[in-house]
Amino acid sequence: MVTELLGADNLSKAIRALKDGEVVAFPTETVYGLGADATNSRACQKIYEAKGRPSDNPLIVHVLDIRGLESVVAGAMPKTARVLAEKFWPGPLTVIVASNDTIPLLVRGSMPTVALRAPSHPVARELIEGVGRPLAAPSANLSGRPSPTRAIDVWQDLQGRIPYIIDGGDSPVGLESTIVDCSVEPPVLLRPGFIGRETLESALGERVLLPEAGTPHKAPGMKYRHYAPRAPVIWINMREDHHIEKALFQLKKEFPNMALMAPRKWQRMVPESFLALGDTAEDVAHGLFTGFRELDDGNPDAIVVIWEENDHGVGLAVANRLGKAAARFVKQEGTARQVRK
Ligand code: TXA
Ligand code: MG
Repeated sequence: MVTELLGADNLSKAIRALKDGEVVAFPTETVYGLGADATNSRACQKIYEAKGRPSDNPLIVHVLDIRGLESVVAGAMPKTARVLAEKFWPGPLTVIVASNDTIPLLVRGSMPTVALRAPSHPVARELIEGVGRPLAAPSANLSGRPSPTRAIDVWQDLQGRIPYIIDGGDSPVGLESTIVDCSVEPPVLLRPGFIGRETLESALGERVLLPEAGTPHKAPGMKYRHYAPRAPVIWINMREDHHIEKALFQLKKEFPNMALMAPRKWQRMVPESFLALGDTAEDVAHGLFTGFRELDDGNPDAIVVIWEENDHGVGLAVANRLGKAAARFVKQEGTARQVRK
């Protein structure tokens, strides 16, 4: 299949393709999505095929607003879903509710629930509006690879596997949406994202739980290996500079061609293959996936990331994504603890 790159200024070709049951990759404010008409099973089957995605991993359905949510929910709308949608839509938040039969089982990975999000990106919105249907869209990467934040990332993963990619520039957030399961009470944060747990709790006026090991309240997708570039990722999760220095010296012996993603002051340690991570958790969230892909292009023998874990705001999401990508963690001060997953 020949893949065509489309500009974001004229979406008529993409809208026609989606109406005809084709898949189209398009930008959203979080990451690029691979979309199809969410009410058309055959079209959505192509998403699973193009990504190599396991069929038990459900897709997120993209709607314009709360009316889209109302049209697919089974039974009474949970108050938590309504409050969150009113407060954070359009934006990087996905809610899970019990599903009526508008959205086929294939899209839902045979779950009784459905995940919904109203994106704020103008291209995504124009597509949903133009097609006149909700659009199912997981991240537009090959399964297991970092989510794409630029059209080139989609191109590198899916070229030849899908007919169209719309180039709408960089995704401003850079990490996938926060997912909250509102089909249970109290609600559960299934995937941390740009909208932090504290922000959700203050909007709801109640606790938002984290999934516990062994509970059924999990996003099926979170069990798969994720977000990983080809080179092994090593996460230095430390505060003190002299401990970080020591860890870097040790790692450089083991991985002479390592690449480094870290605050600017560490550039001198690996000047030939360095990418600056910003200072705030928002900056790190924005740069992480793009950085993985950029550094991976130089074929390093490891990608080392220096970032001290925290669980505030988007920090929880960064720790989650980095934890899933990492093959090794260097954590306790002064000792290189080697954990292989
Ligand atoms: O920001 C985003 O959410 C991006 C953009 C394109 O909107 N989409 C995205 O989709 O990240 P994807 O497929 O890569 O991640 C969807 C996650 C998976 O972990 C999946 O298991 C979970 O959502 N999910 C979908 N439906 C669910 C359901 N009914 N119950 C629990 N988890 C669900
Ligand atoms: Mg994904």
